[in-house]
Formats: sequence, C-alpha cells, structure tokens
Amino acid sequence: MNLIRRPRRNRQSAVIRDMVQETHLSVNDFIFPLFVMEGQNIRSEVASMPGIYRYSLDLLLDEIGQCVDLGVRAFDLFPNLPEAKKDKYATESCNPDGLYLQTIRAVKDRFPDVVVMTDVAMDPYSSDGHDGVVENGKILNDPTLEVLGKMAVAQAQAGADIVGPSDMMDGRVGYIRQMLDVHGFQDVAIMSYSAKYASAFYGPFRDALDSAPKFGDKKTYQMNPANSREALIEAELDFAEGADYLMVKPALPYLDIIKLLSDNYELPIAAYNVSGEYAMIKAAAQNGWLDGQRAMAEALMSIKRAGASVILTYFAKEMAELLNDR
Ligand code: PBG
Repeated sequence: MNLIRRPRRNRQSAVIRDMVQETHLSVNDFIFPLFVMEGQNIRSEVASMPGIYRYSLDLLLDEIGQCVDLGVRAFDLFPNLPEAKKDKYATESCNPDGLYLQTIRAVKDRFPDVVVMTDVAMDPYSSDGHDGVVENGKILNDPTLEVLGKMAVAQAQAGADIVGPSDMMDGRVGYIRQMLDVHGFQDVAIMSYSAKYASAFYGPFRDALDSAPKFGDKKTYQMNPANSREALIEAELDFAEGADYLMVKPALPYLDIIKLLSDNYELPIAAYNVSGEYAMIKAAAQNGWLDGQRAMAEALMSIKRAGASVILTYFAKEMAELLNDR
C-alpha cells in the first residue's frame, strides 16, 4: 500500500515514542494531601483508601520527610478532629494550640522549603458537617465568609504558603484576599476550588475525616455535575477576586472542565484527583482487575494532558516512587 501518512512510524520504538511524547509527568506537578489526627505514634489506615493513613503529628513529619526524599515538596493538610471539638461556627479552626495550626507550624519548622497548602473550609470542625454556617437547615453564605476569613488568617499566621478555600461560598476568594492583605499576608497565595462539583467521589475523604454532612447534601453550594458553562462563571469570579490558581474538582470525571479552564485562563490550573478516584483504582487493583500502577500513571497523565499543571493526588508518593525508578 502506498500510504503517505503512517502515524505508526512515530511509534515504532521506545526511543522514538519517548522523543515524540507530548506530555510529561513530574514530581513537581504534585501536591500530596495528608490527614493529621491527635495523639502520638498513630498511623491509622483509611478503610476506603488503602495505603492512605491518618497520622499523628510525629509520624506525619516522618511521612513528609520520606516524600521530600522522593522529590514531593508540596502538601495539602487536612485535620481529623474528634466530635467533641466540633461546633456550629468551627471555632476550633482558629485555636492556635489546636491540632491543625500546630501541625502547620511544625511542618514549616521542620521543613522550611516545603510548600504547605491548607484547607479553608468549616466541615472538619463543623458539628453540622457542612462547609458553611447552618441556620434552620440553610447554609448561610455571608456569615460563613467571616469564619473563612479568620481561618485563612490563622493559617497564614501559622505559616501556610497557599490557602485553599474548598467551600464554594460566593465571594470567599475576594474576602479572604482582603483579610490576608489587611493582616500583612500579601505573599500568601490562594488556590481556589473554582469548579467544585457536588460529587459522589468525595465519599472516602469524608470517611477519613468523619466529616460527612449530618443532614442533606452540599448541592446548594457545590456545582451540578451537569454544568460546564457555570464553571466559567465561577472561574471568572475567582480570577477577578484575586485567585492565584484555579482548581477543578474532581479531576477524572471532569477532564472537559480542566480543558475548558486551561483554554480560557492564563492562571495555573490545578486539578484534585479526589479520594473516590483513588479508591476506584486501588479497589480494582486489589481484585486483580487491572494493573494498579499503570492505571495510576495513565489517570495522572490524562489530568495533565487535559491542562492541569498542578495535581492534588493521593497517588503523589507512589507515583514519585515510580518516576524515580524509571
Ligand atoms: C470539604 C472538602 C472535601 C474534599 C476536600 N475538601 C469534601 C467535601 O466537599 O465534602 C474532598 C477531597 C477528596 O475527596 O479527596 N471542604
């Protein structure tokens, strides 16, 4: 056959395939989410996330040390708090001697060059399990902003490099930016969860933190999975309000949204490869139904190819090990 175009010519050997490869994953792309809990010498596996643990602070520092040795240098911290420390206004989030702020200080103290991203949201501290102040079964927007603003400033004071509002209240990026600036934290960045969908894929995370909503769901603030144009509205607002990164969450079922934002915005696009996406691959691999390592690498590659330059993923350490072995 006289075919002029034979795309297979560019796939015929490993060297050629490597040479024409368009997208490359690197440990520099990753932010590793980590769960911290009270106590000492505790490493408690999250049942729905094999290989992912809640660590007491001492062991969390060891884990970060191992990750740093593998080249992972950015971490997103989440606290698991006992029910007794939760209340309607998430007051524990601003307790300087509380678990979370103490953890941020300890990590920055031990690893000054590591980037610490924090979670700005009420749910881990909320007795209602919601991301906002609840009144008569409603999630109130503007009163929640005050709580989030204080929380962000407290985290910045503790040493956070990037704060990540994951709540989806309207106006929170602008409010947090203003609060940070007023308190002299001009250099603390905001990674906004811009397009965060009301997703079934957060289930294992809520197990990890015991943070599931006590009533109802999060559909009055998180986005409808059916919508993509609305993601542009959210992104536009976050851009205008001063976000330094725009995040899409979850990642794999929303690759089109990652692509949409990366085509329309010059800011770095982040994607959160969430707990349920991790759990799916792990569960299938444990059953021998697919090759877990290859599925992990392919999934992460697809997120980068879609346009995310930053990937928050529970696979960060495992993928770093694989990248180091290659
Ligand atoms: C809540 C928050 C959630 C996640 C990060 N921050 C869950 C939720 O919105 O209920 C989910 C992360 C994951 O599933 O890995 N502020």
